[in-house]
Amino acid sequence: MKGETTLAKNGEIRRVLVTGGCGFIGANFVRLVLNSRPDWQVVNLDKLTYAGNLQSLADVAAHPGYRFVRGDICDQELVESLFGEHGIDTVVHFAAESHVDRSITGPDAFIRTNIFGTFTLLETARKAWLGEKGREGGAQARFLHVSTDEVFGSLGATGYFTETTCYDPRSPYSASKASSDHLARAYFHTYGLPVLITNCSNNYGPYQFPEKLIPLVINNALQGRPLPVYGDGGNVRDWLYVLDHCEAIIRVLEQGGVGESYNIGGHNERKNLEVVELLCDILDRRVGFLPSGQPRRSLITFVRDRLGHDRRYAIDAGKIDRELGWTPRMSFSEGMEQTVAWYLENRPWLESVIDGSYREYYRNMYGGNEISDEEKQ
Ligand code: NAD
Ligand code: DAU
Repeated sequence: MKGETTLAKNGEIRRVLVTGGCGFIGANFVRLVLNSRPDWQVVNLDKLTYAGNLQSLADVAAHPGYRFVRGDICDQELVESLFGEHGIDTVVHFAAESHVDRSITGPDAFIRTNIFGTFTLLETARKAWLGEKGREGGAQARFLHVSTDEVFGSLGATGYFTETTCYDPRSPYSASKASSDHLARAYFHTYGLPVLITNCSNNYGPYQFPEKLIPLVINNALQGRPLPVYGDGGNVRDWLYVLDHCEAIIRVLEQGGVGESYNIGGHNERKNLEVVELLCDILDRRVGFLPSGQPRRSLITFVRDRLGHDRRYAIDAGKIDRELGWTPRMSFSEGMEQTVAWYLENRPWLESVIDGSYREYYRNMYGGNEISDEEKQ
């Protein structure tokens, strides 16, 4: 029944399949779970696309509650075998192609992974948890589908996305995520699969791939390279510190009602240009001006706008606050300071992503199995 709350409590054993755990949010989530839920067993299924980075979990790789499996969420045989072998009762589904610009130049992988991959996971969970006769197993099972505020489209100068806002995706990325949300919801309504959905705003923080605005600007600004601002820089995003998002996901898993969706946001609306200027100022203060003596704002370069660029996103996160008692803890100014500090303190992580050597880490850790050219895309 919709709204039925979960049986799980802090302290109960969960056997969790995390998909996409080597990505930005997934890696932060896996680490948080291993450090805060000692009774949970985590199986991290990740294909290691260009966005997957095993180094992001190097510090927890040997944790007894953790197992990494390299593989594709579209591989039904593999997914089924993981459910059987590990007795999976919880899925936290992050794996996706996540970058809007890439979806504009090459949508194929977005359709495959985000739609077909989600379908494969839902179908496997249905067979494993509901069986032939319906609800015969998996009483405490939960399938949490991690989604985005981009499914709601673009706002004008005012207003907020709520859980009842009509879907209006406008990029191949957001259309593929909207499609996966619809599938997840359909599996709840049709089969009674215990699905929960979260729709979150823009995350920032440690381990984010430097194609996304904030780490891209930090990296370019450190190297004295141009800082590309799309259009007039007036597009607005609602920024959330990644660990606040991860805490919200745990809250929804433990206390959320099945069949429900929850909007998650940071109450931090900022124009892109403001974000870039703030990063420049923090870096100038922490590492000094450029060798030329110029402040880093001098690197800001307005470039051709993203096709179909959504103007404004803003989340009304009132439901998760009222019903589950979650609000973000990190302020934007402190979160940005900590994020810049993290990238400065973790230059080897950043540099290995920029020079591509992070792709060697898998082979060094697990031997032989090279990453193919197709997988390097
Ligand atoms: P990311 O691109 O950093 O990581 C994606 C991960 O999924 C990578 O580790 C990649 O190797 C893996 N992956 C991709 N295709 C796969 C496949 N076919 N099989 C198995 N693994 C595969 O993404 P992210 O920014 O961490 O986002 C995670 C999820 O959160 C996505 O579903 C995204 O839509 C959603 N989300 C992201 C944000 C954000 O601001 N980053 C905000 C809201 C929602
Ligand atoms: O809103 C949630 C979404 O946030 C997630 O679903 C996506 O997975 C995630 O990638 C992010 O999407 P955005 O497109 O908002 O993030 P991105 O960092 O790519 O861009 C943020 C804003 O900055 C956007 O308005 C485009 C702009 N931008 C981006 C880049 C990379 C620039 O102006 N210059 C840039 O170089």
